[in-house]
Parts: sequence; C-alpha cells; structure tokens
Amino acid sequence: MSNSRIAVIGAGLMGHGIAYIFASAGYKVALHDAHAPTLESAPRRIESLFELLGTDKAGLANLEYHADIATAVANADFVFEAVAEKPEVKQAVFAKLDECAPVNAILATNTSAIPIREVGKVVKKQQRVIGTHYWNPPHLIPLVEVVQAEFTSQDTVDRTMALLTGVGMSPVHVKKDIPGFIGNRLQHALKRECIALVANGVCDAETVDKVVKEGFGARLAVIGPLEQSDMVGLGLTLDIHKVLIADLDRTPGPDPFLVEKVAKGETGMAVGQGFRKWTPEQAAEVRTRLNKFLVDAARNKAKRS
Ligand SMILES: NC(=O)c1ccc[n+]([C@@H]2O[C@H](COP(=O)([O-])OP(=O)(O)OC[C@H]3O[C@@H](n4cnc5c(N)ncnc54)[C@H](O)[C@@H]3O)[C@@H](O)[C@H]2O)c1
Repeated sequence: MSNSRIAVIGAGLMGHGIAYIFASAGYKVALHDAHAPTLESAPRRIESLFELLGTDKAGLANLEYHADIATAVANADFVFEAVAEKPEVKQAVFAKLDECAPVNAILATNTSAIPIREVGKVVKKQQRVIGTHYWNPPHLIPLVEVVQAEFTSQDTVDRTMALLTGVGMSPVHVKKDIPGFIGNRLQHALKRECIALVANGVCDAETVDKVVKEGFGARLAVIGPLEQSDMVGLGLTLDIHKVLIADLDRTPGPDPFLVEKVAKGETGMAVGQGFRKWTPEQAAEVRTRLNKFLVDAARNKAKRS
C-alpha cells in the first residue's frame, strides 16, 4: 500500500490539504488543477501546511504538479477528485479519469452533496468509484466518510479504508449513497432545531450557541450521542423521546426564517450580520479560536502517534 501512487485533481481549499496528507506520509502525489494560478500557488500553500504542523519538509519532494490531467493520473493507484461542486464539472473529470487513469485505479470523489452514483455514471468500470468525504480543513480533521454507492465493490471500500487508516486519517464506512452521508445529516438535523428555536422566539442565537458549547457539546468530542445514551440507559432516552420527539421541528423545507435572512442579505460574518451581529474583530476572533483549537488537536495527535 505504501508504494501506492496518489493523484489529486483540484488544488483548491480541499485538494491542497489532501495532497499534503499523502505527501507528508511518504506517498508520491501528483496534483493537477485546471486553473494555472491555483496550480502555481499550490507548492507554497502545501509548504505552509508542513510548517504549520511541524512536519518533515523532506515530504515536499513527494509532490509533482501537472497542468495536464492525463499525465497527473497516468500512473495513479488512487485518484482523489476535489474540483468544483457541480455535477457536470465532476462528470467531465471522471470521464477523463476513465480514459486516462490505469484501469484498476480507485477513483474517489470528495463531493459534499452530489450522489456518488451521479458522479460515477460516466465511468465504464464503476466498481472502482467511491466517495471520500473529507472535512475542512482535511489536514486538521481526521474523519473521512467513505461512501459506497450500489456499484462500488467491497474491495474498493477495503482498499480505500486501509489507505486512509495508514496515513492517520479516521475513515468510516457509509454503506448507502444518501444525501449528506452521516456527518452533514447530523449537523443539519441539529441546525434545523437551532433555527426553529430562534425563529419561534424561545431564545436568541447567542443562547443556542452557548447551550451547545457549554452544555452537551462540551462532551461531544469524547463521547458520542449513542455512547452517551448507552451510558445513561436507553430507558431514559425512550422516556425523553416519548415527550419530546413529537414537539421537535419538522418544517418540510428550509425554515422561512433562514430563507428570509438570506433574501435580506444577512448572510453571516462576511457582511456583519447573520443569525448574530458580527464586527470584523469578533469574526476574526472566532476564526483564530477555531484554527488554534484544530491545530493544537492535530499537533497533539501527531505527538501521540
Ligand atoms: N470547502 C469545504 O468546506 C468542503 C468540505 C468537504 C468537501 N468539499 C468538497 O470538495 C470539493 C472541492 O471544494 P473546495 O472547497 O476545495 O473548492 P475550491 O474552489 O477551493 O477548489 C476547487 C478547485 O478545482 C479546480 N477545478 C475546477 N474545475 C476543474 C477541472 N475541470 N479540472 C481540474 N480542476 C478543476 C478549481 O480551479 C479549484 O482550484 C467540492 O466538491 C466540495 O463540495 C468542500
């Protein structure tokens, strides 16, 4: 496996982080982007990740940069696609991979929302097509959702899981090609209720965030919701659900409160107003706090391993 050659298509926010993950772990990585300035800036952006995480810069020598997709994938064992989130763009890339990558190479898409079956339908040997949903930033967040479409073979799943585990990522097997996979379904189920609480005047947005961060969120990184249910006993979870479930928000589409905010241009930190008001300093403080937390966690993990 460690001799596997990796190609990454798309050198943007996600692609350069994915390239770093494999290059820093000793794999040969060929990176391609169709946009010349993005490809030109990729070496410097990847080098800065080596600096950020204190990784041995000898790994930089594992990287090659290709303006031509065909040469980037010519010898690949695994191809990770991280181009724009548009079905037609991803399908055009996969048609090219079908033509240019070795016939046994695994072809993985980092799509957030497009069904894997849609991305892979242009490929002849579809059992090698799979979803690998990394989280942003991929070099700091270890989870990867490995999504098996109906056509994806078990061998493709096993090889992908083994590759990701070998470079220190935490892959999980998503056995059905469903919208949002696992993580975004959970995240947006929570957001739906958060928005409804504010829209219905129960509390303001600051309070929702405080309840999550200083309440049950404080333990979420060390104990998952189902572990926690098992810990307190399923009888308690059932009793609470008997009272609560029917009362939870079931708005069938996006909440009108959210729709109205977007229509008014209140789209978040970038404009100073979203669910909450933001000064540029407050917005910068949140970004710094998040980045420091994730970098510290990644450095601590690297020290332990
Ligand atoms: N940003 C996130 O938080 C996040 C998280 C998980 C998954 N994703 C998914 O990852 C993928 C990439 O997202 P991103 O945030 O890195 O986007 P991005 O815009 O930063 O990067 C996409 C790159 O793809 C390149 N590109 C576009 N068409 C191309 C083509 N035909 N051939 C080669 N390169 C091409 C662009 O030039 C750009 O550099 C998307 O599918 C996105 O949904 C993003």
